[in-house]
Amino acid sequence: METTLSPSRPIPIHPGLPIVGNTLEYLRDPLAFLRRLQRDYGHQRMVCINVGGRITTLMLKPEETKQVIQENNRNYGRGKSFAILREFLGNGLLTSEGDFWRRQRRLAQPAFHRQKLAILAEIMIEEAVAWVDRLEKSADIKPVNFSAATTDVTLRIVTRTLFGSSLGDQLDGLSSALANLNHVANNAVINPIRLPKWVPTPDNRSFEKATQKVNNLIFGIIESRRQTGETRDDLLDMLLRATDDETGEGMSDAQLRDEMVTLFTAGHETTATSMAWTLYLLAQHPEVVKRAKVEINAVLGQRDRPSADDLRAMPYLSQIISESLRLYPPAWIMSRLSLGPDRFGDYVLEPNRGVLVSPYVLHHDPDSWPDPERFNPDRFAPEQSKDRHPYAFLPFGGGPRLCIGNQFALMEMQALLTVLLHRFDLRPMSGLRIKTQPLITLRPKQAVHIYLD
Ligand code: HEM
Repeated sequence: METTLSPSRPIPIHPGLPIVGNTLEYLRDPLAFLRRLQRDYGHQRMVCINVGGRITTLMLKPEETKQVIQENNRNYGRGKSFAILREFLGNGLLTSEGDFWRRQRRLAQPAFHRQKLAILAEIMIEEAVAWVDRLEKSADIKPVNFSAATTDVTLRIVTRTLFGSSLGDQLDGLSSALANLNHVANNAVINPIRLPKWVPTPDNRSFEKATQKVNNLIFGIIESRRQTGETRDDLLDMLLRATDDETGEGMSDAQLRDEMVTLFTAGHETTATSMAWTLYLLAQHPEVVKRAKVEINAVLGQRDRPSADDLRAMPYLSQIISESLRLYPPAWIMSRLSLGPDRFGDYVLEPNRGVLVSPYVLHHDPDSWPDPERFNPDRFAPEQSKDRHPYAFLPFGGGPRLCIGNQFALMEMQALLTVLLHRFDLRPMSGLRIKTQPLITLRPKQAVHIYLD
């Protein structure tokens, strides 16, 4: 196709070594590398890097990021890492593209509407209370390992909200099979020398076993729901009943399976990681915990468990969560592939070019966030937020592919923090500074240990 676009300025290129380009610099410490790029090229708004033999353009500012993921989103497909994920998760919302994705998104969206979430919030609150009860029993002398504890509770919540309580004693089996599948998919995306799926490596074998188990359980549950026609207040039920306005058709069993596995995978590790970081930050900022407790006490009064409405009535707690998502966005980088050319001011981006947008980079940009390393929930007070570019903060992405579970995740974190802080004070273990570990999600490098007083 002829294009009328004529480049007037090349996109800056970060110099690298022969052959490997910037790969080693990237692998050594991806976050430090991205921050250096932001410092050195931020005023030029984007930069090209060569990682793994592919030239990729990194967007460094909110406006250009918005153009990629919102304004001109149709010009961008899913990047390479999504192709690997697709092998493991199937063709669900996270990995699918084009018309198929649009239809699936239309079908799934109503399940995440406000009234539906209020139903799911009851499960979250119930699990939050049971979680804090369990912590209370085990936390007498020892600090709690919150990396493990937040994984445990988010797994329970996601499994129950997806499949409901109908699972009974199958809950743990399904949950661990799904977690296993998720673990292997994670390894595959970050491993540069991955063997094909048919080679019987330990990871591939364990994936095969977990897939069998997950498929048997999920297809079994779907079949029994279809046969009995029973209704339940869970996401599976909502997706099972969803029909396309245009065609009147619903999802096939195979599509339902892929969506359930996708929601499970996208829905728990991100939330668990963010909860662990939030508690890590809170344990070091008693003054912030104190303000949060005043708010929680004012809303709950004498009651020991919140309602779904209570969770929406705690703005300071939301500010804390936002500030934690700013400093440690679990989805720290997102990849795209340009389908056609795109113009950004004087720059022209070529077709078939890898594009990276990084919430981590944007969230640490001193132009948007003065003193960016400081934990300060007041940044999200309405009067301090009103002049900020909407794409300066995008823990859940943006545009049509905005995280479908964003309100779900915020509600879940709000429930867990409310119940925990209502009952306990937090004390960190001896001022340990925890480093970041950027895998698929931005995890704490060491487990987060905190005393509950
Ligand atoms: C703190 C928690 C979470 C964070 C930070 C997060 C972040 C994100 C981000 C950044 C994207 C966009 C990816 C891209 O455009 O390349 C995304 C997509 C997605 N998320 Fe989340 N997420 C969280 C929780 C959840 C939960 C709880 C669910 C489901 C219950 C979920 C389900 C999904 C799905 C299905 C997509 C793909 C949406 C689409 O492309 O249509 N996420 N998430």
